[in-house]
Amino acid sequence: MQDYAGERPVVCSAKMSLSPARGGACPNGSPIGCSEVPMEDMKALAIGALSATDIQEQYEHIRQLGKGTYGKVDLVAHRTEGTKLALKFVNKDKTKLRSFLREYSLTSDLGCSPFIIKVLDVLFETEDAYVYGQEYAPAGDLFDIIPPQVGLPEEVAKRCIRQLGLALDFMHGRGLVHRDVKPENVLLFDGECRRVALADLGMARRRAAGRGA
Ligand SMILES: Nc1ncnc2c1ncn2[C@@H]1O[C@H](COP(=O)(O)OP(=O)(O)OP(=O)(O)O)[C@@H](O)[C@H]1O
Ligand SMILES: [Mg+2]
Repeated sequence: MQDYAGERPVVCSAKMSLSPARGGACPNGSPIGCSEVPMEDMKALAIGALSATDIQEQYEHIRQLGKGTYGKVDLVAHRTEGTKLALKFVNKDKTKLRSFLREYSLTSDLGCSPFIIKVLDVLFETEDAYVYGQEYAPAGDLFDIIPPQVGLPEEVAKRCIRQLGLALDFMHGRGLVHRDVKPENVLLFDGECRRVALADLGMARRRAAGRGA
């Protein structure tokens, strides 16, 4: 029996649609933009179990995109739809289900910003990891394109910072702080930073009440 550190394991069918997660569509006029899912309700999000064989049957593994403190991110292609997506594997021994669902849910709620990475309606667990799908950023992350001791051309840096400012403003307007802004967490859709997206909301939190922006 898996130890969920006091959390209720949720066992339903795996969510497998490749469309952006529902939280990505912000209802008009909502003061927090997108529905904030209370922690208790988040636990009720359906997360099904997939074996390594199930994953292989559904996705073609292309390559590993990154390895972080909490797990890895793989580029895969959905076998029947042909769509490429990034699967983020968060190791169960490093992260509780509750934290994983918070990251998924917060990212999903912010999906209506073009400057925040979109999560897909793909959510499951394996024996060792919790997994969710994200849109694939084909040009990698910002860290990889900054030449050491040289830096980015001014125009590129300005374009990038402008978009990051909008992403952070969007989050702050919804009472959220990212808390882990760094080049590795800025994903690129092209090599000139014409479209960048802030990613990795694993450290994001709601701003404490009474604190200024
Ligand atoms: N959607 C994506 N498209 C392309 N590359 C990605 C994507 N998501 C993540 N990556 C790559 O994988 C790396 C690790 O991803 P991420 O930051 O989400 O994982 P993490 O385990 O939370 O990392 P850490 O805790 O070390 O910051 C990123 O720095 C990036 O290079
Ligand atoms: Mg990261």
